[in-house]
Amino acid sequence: MRWKRTHTCGELRKQNDQQTVILMGWVDRWRDHGNLLFVDLRDRYGITQIKVDIGSEAYPVAKRMRGEFVVAFKGTVSLRPLDMVNSQIPTGEVELVAHECIVLNSADTPPFQIGTTINASEDMRLRYRYLDLRNPRMQQKLLVRHRVAQVARQYLSENNFVEIETPYLMKSTPEGARDYLVPSRIWHGRFYALPQSPQTYKQLLMVSGFDRYFQIVRCFRDEDLRADRQPEFTQIDVEMSFVDEEDIFAIVEGLMARIFKSELDLELTVPLQRIPYDEAMRKYGTDRPDLRFGLELQDVGDLVHDSEFKVFSQAVASGGKVVGFAAPSCARYSRKQIDQLTDFCKERGAKGLVAIKVKGSEWDSPLTKFFTQEQQQAIVERLSAKDGDLMLFVADQVDLTLQIMGELRVMVARQEQLIPADVYKMAWVTDFPLFEYSEEERRYVARHHPFTSPRPSDLDKLETEPAKVKARAYDLVLNGLEIAGGSIRISTRELQAKMFNALGIRKEEAQEKFGFLLEALSFGAPPHGGIAFGFDRLIMLLTHSNSIRDVIAFPKTASAMSLMDGAPAQVREEQVKELGLILQQSPSIKAGE
Ligand code: AMO
Ligand code: AMP
Repeated sequence: MRWKRTHTCGELRKQNDQQTVILMGWVDRWRDHGNLLFVDLRDRYGITQIKVDIGSEAYPVAKRMRGEFVVAFKGTVSLRPLDMVNSQIPTGEVELVAHECIVLNSADTPPFQIGTTINASEDMRLRYRYLDLRNPRMQQKLLVRHRVAQVARQYLSENNFVEIETPYLMKSTPEGARDYLVPSRIWHGRFYALPQSPQTYKQLLMVSGFDRYFQIVRCFRDEDLRADRQPEFTQIDVEMSFVDEEDIFAIVEGLMARIFKSELDLELTVPLQRIPYDEAMRKYGTDRPDLRFGLELQDVGDLVHDSEFKVFSQAVASGGKVVGFAAPSCARYSRKQIDQLTDFCKERGAKGLVAIKVKGSEWDSPLTKFFTQEQQQAIVERLSAKDGDLMLFVADQVDLTLQIMGELRVMVARQEQLIPADVYKMAWVTDFPLFEYSEEERRYVARHHPFTSPRPSDLDKLETEPAKVKARAYDLVLNGLEIAGGSIRISTRELQAKMFNALGIRKEEAQEKFGFLLEALSFGAPPHGGIAFGFDRLIMLLTHSNSIRDVIAFPKTASAMSLMDGAPAQVREEQVKELGLILQQSPSIKAGE
């Protein structure tokens, strides 16, 4: 290249007046004023306005430029006339008066305009991801991601954590989701699994005596995707020896405080609030409550079990719940709006939704005839309902009711704009059940993973009353998202074997799948525990992104495709053969095609 760049497009200020500089970048905008051309030159650092007079040597070259051409300008920095100052951009007080210019590369017309996403579907943006990533908005997100990773590395290193890499080709171990498998060429019929997390490795590192481990690591899970899930995602993975919950909470709170300070200039108040799982379910209908607004759920079963309204009394009689909350100032809702709420609940499995308007402190509803004055009053009080509120209730079996009301709570809060922007509410959810019943597998499965320690006081219930056993597990929730989860682990071979047994994993199977871990536990495993952050989710929240895809440079679609390079793709027949595989259908591509 003939020239060397002297400054970036975000750098020039008043102080640079009259300096001769060379800028390089992309043509963001281009305006022809007849005897004068203006080019907005863009790079990662910002935008600088270039002025090209008709008399300058640069003019004929600049005249042929188009959007997204890669160009270089040599010129003199000059103060803009006062009425031309652009206060929107940091370089807005100056412009570069061009002397010479070079086109470094031309560009086809991009399929969408860089910098605005208005006319581009997400599919289009993913197909041309490298262009989408030219958008300063997208670049900012990846810069936040970069900085937070640096802060985490630094904080953890300062606290004696060692960053250790663990294999991506490993033995399939369960974390709850489906594994991505990699067939072995050398050992036909055998497969590596891509790690759903480095869980077993980090525990083995504790057995090795590393004491404090971390890794910013990719994890792979072949599960149904959502706005906050990707098939490959990144964790800040942490494990510590000789610790209990308090030590882990302290380290994590310190890390979060550091990230909030450096990235948002916010002081995080620690220690964080702790909410036992049962309370979270009762009040918010979810184990990842959004605490930025109220609308807490109330169980009114005890008030309505003997009411004449069968929907309520029968639900209670059959062991279910009647749960409600007061939607503030929503008595104004039209029939149609209430129908929409009802549909929302029905789509999630409810049989219906009861909506009761409050006027003064009385019910304004055709349902008054089914309830005594006392019942009506007691319900208004339980829900702390005020004049003009709308009380909403679902009656059904416990889990379903809580789940639906939890979702309705968030939906109404969004609709009524009760969720403050720029507020971060973080809390620990603790005392999770150790097991959950899987209808699909018809047995209890580990709610977190099978290496999680039961609460010592519940050990006797492990095999007799599994549903009642609490785990030494914890999640960190932020604004309604689970951003981290972990536990104190089982550190003895005997208890681990007992746990596998409780999970219905036979001895031989446990030996075959986890023999290496059981063996390691018998060679002097220290008490240990840890946690893993969903790094992408954290960045998603810090950057106010709606989708996890926005904070990943090259993400997959909801159907696990990479629209840019077309992965997953067919491979040559020979490649498949080499792996000792036979495909049932879909012909693979022949060599040379
Ligand atoms: P867990 O399975 O809870 O724990 O995962 C930890 C965190 O990772 C994030 N996460 C995801 N993010 C994006 N896409 C996904 N598909 C996805 N799945 C999970 C969540 C979650 O809180 N080994 C244990 C941790 C431990 O016990 O130390 C584990 O992986 O934010
Ligand atoms: P029905 O008795 O089916 O006519 O329902 C009377 C009202 O109760 C309607 O507004 C229904 O939407 C509502 N409803 C019915 N079943 C339930 C339920 N399980 N929970 C909450 N509301 C319900």
